[in-house]
Order: sequence, then structure tokens, then C-alpha cells
Amino acid sequence: MNMKQILICTSIIMYGQAALAQKAEHAQAVTEAIKIKPYLPPTEDTIPDNEFGAMVRFGRDIFIDTQAHAGKYVGNGLNCVNCHLDAGRLANSAPLWAAWVKYPAYRGKNKMVNIMQERFQGCFKYSMNGKAPATDSKELKALTSYAFWLAQGAPTGVDLPGRGYPGLAKPEKKPDFKRGKQVFAENCVLCHGDKGEGTRQNAGYVFPPLWGKDSFNWGAGMHRINTAAAFIRANMPLGKGGSLSNQQAWDVAYYVNSHERPQDPRFKGDVAATKAAYHQHQCRYGDKSGNHLLGKKP
Ligand code: HEC
Ligand code: HEC
Repeated sequence: MNMKQILICTSIIMYGQAALAQKAEHAQAVTEAIKIKPYLPPTEDTIPDNEFGAMVRFGRDIFIDTQAHAGKYVGNGLNCVNCHLDAGRLANSAPLWAAWVKYPAYRGKNKMVNIMQERFQGCFKYSMNGKAPATDSKELKALTSYAFWLAQGAPTGVDLPGRGYPGLAKPEKKPDFKRGKQVFAENCVLCHGDKGEGTRQNAGYVFPPLWGKDSFNWGAGMHRINTAAAFIRANMPLGKGGSLSNQQAWDVAYYVNSHERPQDPRFKGDVAATKAAYHQHQCRYGDKSGNHLLGKKP
């Protein structure tokens, strides 16, 4: 090798190293941007005025007023937006854009990889106590279009800040019915009613029911004490999220979920068997509340 060749070789190596370093720096910057930068979904006035835009709008309408736009698939008094606030846009209330970038995903609940449509079907069956629309139905196409549109520009495959409901530290004291009842009376009754029946106006609810026949069923995520506590701590009382203490959120979630609600659709006639098969988590299904066995209709 002569001097010139050596020089060329060294510069190639140095260039390579610089490029590698630059690549690493870029990767680092991307990771940090993903870590710290909160994602903001586009505003509704930017929904395009074309066929795709019409599907996006239909998806949004179903999400906000499921009763009116997908009523035949709903078996209770709820709308998607009741648990996914601000039309599925609000961080820390399981926003649609954060879900979109993580699907397809494995779910322990049905022990398989689910596409986004199957995740939607889950909330229809349990949270809405209804029937799941078919994967290729216009309703699921519309909801998928809406989620896709909300997530445009978001990095895929990452847990965006604000996904789901924020994790909650364990309570210092075991969640308690009596303390929960007190929290409920002071902070929730005004809107949700003292029997958790919600507040109706004309045909629908202005404040959704928390238990009873028009609420989510015993198979829904919200019947888990930890999930409800996390949702409530972040989002309730409406407009005053974060105002309850950790302990108050656990207590009131325990209280809300110690009441009767529609049966788990996987129930085959025996509460104890259903509990053993599907309720090995923090919930009260199959427990006694007073003299009543939860899950067994009075
Ligand atoms: C000012 C009225 C108001 C108060 C007070 C309030 N909520 Fe809500 N809550 C709402 C509304 C409205 C929604 C539905 C949100 C939406 O559709 O945008 C909701 C939704 C919910 C949901 C999910 C939907 C459902 O029906 O299951 C739960 C659970 C809930 N609230 C629990 C509570 C608890 C517990 C308290 C007291 C700590 C509380 N809320 C206080 C108005 C209120
Ligand atoms: C009673 C409350 C409730 C209602 C009503 C509800 N959901 Fe959900 N949804 C949940 C809970 C709880 C989760 C799980 C959130 C978690 O643990 O992070 C969830 C999760 C989801 C997810 C996945 C979120 C993620 O980040 O993986 C999607 C998508 C979703 N719901 C769509 C819908 C649609 C569409 C509707 C209406 C047809 C609906 N939900 C109605 C409570 C509800």
C-alpha cells in the first residue's frame, strides 16, 4: 500500500466511524424525542373533504354517540367517549392515537394477536355490553379510519406518553367499601346519582351510569378495581382529574365495582366457575357484598 492508498483507507474508516456516530446520535435523538415529546392529534377542522374524510367523520360520530350511530351493537347506556374522553383524543384516558400505533398486539385476555378491529370488538362486547360488529362492517371500517387519522404523524410501535390510564401506586390501606361510599357521596353523586344510575336527559345519558343494567358488564376492563382506580384518579370528578388522593381513588373504585352490573358474556351458568376461569385479578366478581353474591342477579 502506498501513502495515498493508506490515506484513502484511513479516511474511509474515519468517514465510516463518523457516519456511525451520526447514526447513533440520530437514533438517540429519535428515542429522546419519542420519550419526551407528547403527541398531539390533528384538530378536527383538518379532516379532509373527500371520501376518506367522510369515513373519518363517521368513525368520530360513532365514537362520540355510539347509541345513535351504532346502536344495534350496544346493549347499555354508554358511548365510547364516556371512558375515552374528548372523542378519544385525551391523553391518560386511553386515547385512540396511542392505541393505533401499538396494534396489532398480543392480548392476554384472548391469548392471541389482535388487530385494531378486534380490540374495538372487545369494547363493544364488554364495555358496551353489546354485540361486536363484523371486522369488515362499515362501523369498524369507520372507527379504524378515525384512529388512523388521529395517529397520523405519530411514531409507530412505541408506547406514546398518555397511552391507557396512568399506572397507580398501590394504596397504603386495603381499599374499603365504607370509605369508598363516603368519597362517592362527596365527589360523584352529583352527576352519577346515589345509586350510580347516572343522569338521563331525553333519550340518553348526560352523565353515564356506573353500575346497574345500563352500565359496562362484568367482563369489561373497568370492572377491575385497579383499572377503574387509575381512570378515576386521572379523569374524575370530570374536569378535576388528579384531585382525589391515591387512596380515595382506590376506595371509590372498590365501592363502584362492588355493585351489580350486566353479566359477564362468558358466563355459562355458574358464578364460581366464571370467577375461576376469568376473574383472577383485582375485582369483586363472585365475592359477597353484604348478603349478595356479586355476579348472581337478585
Ligand atoms: C361534573 C359531573 C361528574 C362528576 C362530579 C363525576 N363524573 Fe364521572 N363522568 C362524568 C361524565 C360526563 C363522564 C363521561 C365523560 C364523557 O363522555 O366525556 C364520566 C365518566 C365516568 C366513568 C366512566 C364511564 C362509566 O359510566 O362507567 C366513571 C367510571 C366515572 N365517571 C366515575 C366517577 C367517579 C368515581 C366520580 C367521583 C370521584 C365521578 N365520576 C365524578 C361526569 C362526572
Ligand atoms: C366503560 C368504559 C369503556 C367504554 C364505554 C369503552 N371502552 Fe374502550 N377501553 C376501556 C378500558 C378500561 C380499556 C383498557 C385501557 C387500559 O387498561 O389501558 C379500553 C381500551 C380500548 C382500546 C385500546 C387502548 C390501548 O391503548 O390499547 C381501544 C382501541 C378502545 N378501548 C376502543 C373503544 C371503542 C371503539 C369503544 C366504543 C365502541 C370503547 N372503547 C368503549 C373502557 C371503555
